Amino acid sequence: MRVAGAFAIALVAQLAAAQIIDEDWWKNTTIYQIYPRSFKDTNADGIGDLRGILQQIYHPDVLGIGAVWLSPIFKSPMKDFGYDISDFRDIDPIFGTMADFDALVEDCRKRGLKLVLDFVPNHSSDEHEWFIKSVAREEPYTNYYTWLDPKGFNESGSPIPPNNWLSVFGGSAWEFNEQRQQFYLHQFTVGQPDLNYRNPAVIEEMNDILRFWMDKGADGFRLDATPHLMEDQSFPDEPLSNDPEFTSDQWGYLSHIYTTDLPELYDVIYGFRDVVDQKQAELGRQMVMMVEAYTSLENTMKYYGSGDRKGAHFPFNFELITKFNNETTAAELKQIIDNWQNNLPDGAWSNWVIGNHDTSRVASRLGREFGLAAVIMGQLLPGTAITYNGEEINMEDTWISWRDTVDPPACQAGPENYQRFSRDPERTPFHWDNSTYAGFTTSDSNKPWLPVNENYKEINVRHQLYEGPKQPYWIYEKLIDLRTEIAAVQRGNLTTSTVGDNIFAFTRVLADDVLGWGLFVVVNFDYAEVTADVTSSVTLLQEGTKLFYETGTLESNYIYYQQIDPSSVTIPARGALVFRYIVTSSATSVAASCLSLLSAFLALINL
Ligand code: NOJ
Repeated sequence: MRVAGAFAIALVAQLAAAQIIDEDWWKNTTIYQIYPRSFKDTNADGIGDLRGILQQIYHPDVLGIGAVWLSPIFKSPMKDFGYDISDFRDIDPIFGTMADFDALVEDCRKRGLKLVLDFVPNHSSDEHEWFIKSVAREEPYTNYYTWLDPKGFNESGSPIPPNNWLSVFGGSAWEFNEQRQQFYLHQFTVGQPDLNYRNPAVIEEMNDILRFWMDKGADGFRLDATPHLMEDQSFPDEPLSNDPEFTSDQWGYLSHIYTTDLPELYDVIYGFRDVVDQKQAELGRQMVMMVEAYTSLENTMKYYGSGDRKGAHFPFNFELITKFNNETTAAELKQIIDNWQNNLPDGAWSNWVIGNHDTSRVASRLGREFGLAAVIMGQLLPGTAITYNGEEINMEDTWISWRDTVDPPACQAGPENYQRFSRDPERTPFHWDNSTYAGFTTSDSNKPWLPVNENYKEINVRHQLYEGPKQPYWIYEKLIDLRTEIAAVQRGNLTTSTVGDNIFAFTRVLADDVLGWGLFVVVNFDYAEVTADVTSSVTLLQEGTKLFYETGTLESNYIYYQQIDPSSVTIPARGALVFRYIVTSSATSVAASCLSLLSAFLALINL
């Protein structure tokens, strides 16, 4: 009987799938972020590489993911682990060669996987030839960076920085260069001098780099640290933030009104989009441009474009990282989500990010069960979903001792404070299996560059694959299936609601549905299991129709396709459940009666 039920459901799924429009690939897929240093090491040096990615790229592919984004793989002294680039057009030997990159492009093409690269426009490495020539005042590089004379000299004759600006990683944002006898600006490490975007030659250089990688096969870019692109040219001191959490050498001590979010920067972004669009037309390949900007909602939305200027396809939506934590109530989460959706410019495409290499892992931030609830929401809310490698198996942060600490802001903060600033915990090696070092490296002597989490024997791909459907891996795979299978997940309207104080719910339903599925997600904020009547939250549910259980967090006791009455749904503590249901908002009576018949049939076979 269950087989017959599954068949009938698959039939309807087929019909629904027929409704899916072949939109731009970046809209309907999940984009999987690979942190190359930690993904897979094939040359036994303890650091992940491109051959490792090539070897393991089947993993996102098997999960049904359509695109991967690689954190920087370019030539770099690795002072900020690849975000300090000394040659924007070459691969760092730690990661491999250009031939390895070409092989990866080819393999991705065969698999139908899109390959997105990181583009770091704000700064280069201090070992980049532009900087070396700029130090020497060699044209045209003299003004490729922001150089200023000292404000004066102190009693001991040391030069005084031009103003009080601070680096995001702590300490002054100015570094004195003996050879040039001037200070240069670096908003991140000393080894990452800020490029000067007031200089059109710099913009043209960066445009060429975009073109170069699209010609090489990239399907788009993630743009790094864009709020920092421009600074006020009168270089005034920044005011104090008066935030007691920060000491005078920490970035949060100042209010960054002259170094971030300057109105001029958006034009540069729109210019990058023009370059991407021109290349897209030339190559006949749809590209994507995503922007990393931790800023206000208002500023974030500016990245989409202005008037007839197009901006990013989307700026990352960090709301579920910056505003959602274990203190958040169901009503507050509803507001966070509604607020983002309601602020989207007309026609703008949404997206959801729940983690990356700069943020504590979601399973550690929220706990394993609630973290998985966030994964579920990230996949099923409207728009593109972004997954940071490891979220699909519920990887947690790894505790790192001061001795093992390598992340620049953590090192800068010192042994007492490093844990507050360190990004090492979320960057530890990926867990493939339960062999030595979680199968990350082929070496059993060379240690990985960061320690492997002790929990790897249970939290790894292989183990979860063999343990079956109640594992994070399977739950995640199911979510990806739902994204492809149900048209409402791709294009459906979002309706959010709360039930009582502790339940947040949302539905995804196609506005003009004739025959299709609706999707219903319910999240329990309580630390105890609850059974609730959620009928009022399920939009366009015909009276008497049941919910069909699809998946849920680890503690859910329902089984696949189980029919549940919405008047009594049991949700695990801090857990989430996902259901599909038949939407009967149909305008055509033929379709409506088909659906009624089908639901009756489904009800019957489940008796
Ligand atoms: C944002 C990147 O994600 C981060 O890892 C890096 O340190 C800074 N930008 C500087 O490039």
